[in-house]
Amino acid sequence: MRNTIGIDAGGTLTKVAFLDDQNEFQFKVFPSKDLTLVKEWIESLPEIEEIGITGGRTEQLLSKIKMNKSIDYVVEFDATIKGVKYLLKKEGHDIQKSIITNVGTGTSIHYMENDTHVRVGGTGIGGGTLTGLSTIMTGLSDFKEITKIAKQGKREFIDLFVKDIFEGMEPPIEGHLTASNFGKVNLLNHTSYPIPDLLATIQALVGEVITTLSIQYADMKNSETIIYIGSTLTNNEHLKEVIANYTILKKHTPVFLNDCGFSGAIGALLNKVEQRNKLKDNNGILT
Ligand SMILES: Nc1ncnc2c1ncn2[C@@H]1O[C@H](COP(=O)(O)OP(=O)(O)OP(=O)(O)O)[C@@H](O)[C@H]1O
Ligand SMILES: [Mg+2]
Repeated sequence: MRNTIGIDAGGTLTKVAFLDDQNEFQFKVFPSKDLTLVKEWIESLPEIEEIGITGGRTEQLLSKIKMNKSIDYVVEFDATIKGVKYLLKKEGHDIQKSIITNVGTGTSIHYMENDTHVRVGGTGIGGGTLTGLSTIMTGLSDFKEITKIAKQGKREFIDLFVKDIFEGMEPPIEGHLTASNFGKVNLLNHTSYPIPDLLATIQALVGEVITTLSIQYADMKNSETIIYIGSTLTNNEHLKEVIANYTILKKHTPVFLNDCGFSGAIGALLNKVEQRNKLKDNNGILT
């Protein structure tokens, strides 16, 4: 392992990125509700000398780490975009202009064009909503379990589709679109719902809200592509399918990145390396 790491201390998860001896990125994930685990991991590796850090829990984490490290903070949005650009290049995409939707605990939406980027909006509906509603409605709180079981669920007894309302008529918009998430509950007399169906319906609610908003910003900015990132998409094929189908239906191109949860941590690491090299250059000029 090299002596520099990048950390993204997020609302739910703290992500760490570092380069191994083959110059390949390695990743680690810790729950943000127990930052002592991050501190212990860092302290167990004395070779770590430099830390690039970002995310809303930066101060909470730094207050735990001994200050014998060189630390550089970078604001979350800058780190995220830097990481996204790195991953786009690594994964062979050539995209200069795009909406970037970060589905974290909540969802933050950005517009990137060449070297500029701006946060255009967001919503409180995100990964925290997915796990929160799932816990309350089904008792399941483990993300891996939720996403695995959601794949087997059906939405047709819970969600109200356009074709359900326009039965026997030609609907004015495509019939399979959702008219109302959870809207069928009080129209049918079911008294209980299978857990997979509830989870699939919660995923669709979260996915459709995020996609609807992203499409509106993409239209506003005249951007064809929407890049979806954030740990909520990690091994979550069901959610990605909801997002991809709706994005494509609305004539935009969805892009998913393999290491979708780690753009902030990668960006924080890259920023730290840049800062260090700048400092070296300046010292060179001064001496
Ligand atoms: N191992 C995991 N444990 C808990 N949640 C997980 C896990 N893996 C993925 N998730 C999902 O990812 C979400 C968090 O995503 P992410 O790490 O991108 O957000 P964050 O950076 O913590 O939050 P924010 O950016 O909003 O501050 C969780 O709400 C959950 O839906
Ligand atoms: Mg985050």
